[in-house]
Amino acid sequence: MESKTILITGGTAGIGLAAASHFCRQGHRVIITGRDSQRLDEALKTLDYRATGVLCDSGNMAQIRQLQQTLAKERILLDALVLNAGVFHPGEFAACTESQFDATMDVNLKGPFFTLQALLGQLASPASVIFISSLAVEKAFAGTSVYSASKAAFEAAARVLNQELAPAGIRINSIRPGVTATEIQAKAGMTTEEIHALADGLAATPLGRILRVEDIVPAIDYLVSDAAIGLRNAHISIDGGYSL
Ligand SMILES: NC(=O)c1ccc[n+]([C@@H]2O[C@H](COP(=O)([O-])OP(=O)(O)OC[C@H]3O[C@@H](n4cnc5c(N)ncnc54)[C@H](OP(=O)(O)O)[C@@H]3O)[C@@H](O)[C@H]2O)c1
Repeated sequence: MESKTILITGGTAGIGLAAASHFCRQGHRVIITGRDSQRLDEALKTLDYRATGVLCDSGNMAQIRQLQQTLAKERILLDALVLNAGVFHPGEFAACTESQFDATMDVNLKGPFFTLQALLGQLASPASVIFISSLAVEKAFAGTSVYSASKAAFEAAARVLNQELAPAGIRINSIRPGVTATEIQAKAGMTTEEIHALADGLAATPLGRILRVEDIVPAIDYLVSDAAIGLRNAHISIDGGYSL
């Protein structure tokens, strides 16, 4: 199997870290980004230092430019870019403040948009761009209006970019995970009891349990692979049958 160079944003936890671990095991060259240097160091240790880490807050334009400069300096060409870094701050629409709106949009929309733009010169041809979207784009969950809009907005941009960037050999596809057991629920302020209740509630889905990161990684693997060369603007929903 040909070795690929893959950059994963937000590779310090959850789906991103699991994908990084998978690609390291496969012998690919993996670069992860993170917003916190200590978390980044811990993740690299988890990966037995088989990956490289670059500090980059996806909501920080200066750090996105710095990321591009780091890759350019090392003449790194990416076969795949996984736009995974994301935040989930649920809250009622009526109480949503401008700063809460911006906090989600900065990381979930502006981050992947300008990361992709900044790294255009660092993408090989062909290159696979994979956006980790959400089931929240197609299924309404109360309290997720901004989150859902942030993911849907990038998908809308990706549709256009699949045409605009096609001459450069760039394809963009999205994965829409359903509720997946990661740190994201605790970061959203849910208590351990609430997280257990959420997981218990998913026993009624056709899959019969909450999703795990290992349920999501194979789809990322497929989209990275040359086998997915014909796939453009796909939205792969992995929800355990939740929306049926
Ligand atoms: N888990 C789910 O149920 C679910 C469902 C649908 C979609 N998703 C999407 O899947 C993606 C991965 O989420 P996850 O569930 O794996 O959550 P997670 O365990 O919290 O991991 C999120 C990753 O993104 C990083 N990150 C957050 N903000 C960042 C920023 N400003 N700059 C750089 N990195 C940042 C986190 O870094 P830290 O380690 O510093 O926090 C972490 O590495 C997200 O885009 C999320 O929206 C998740």
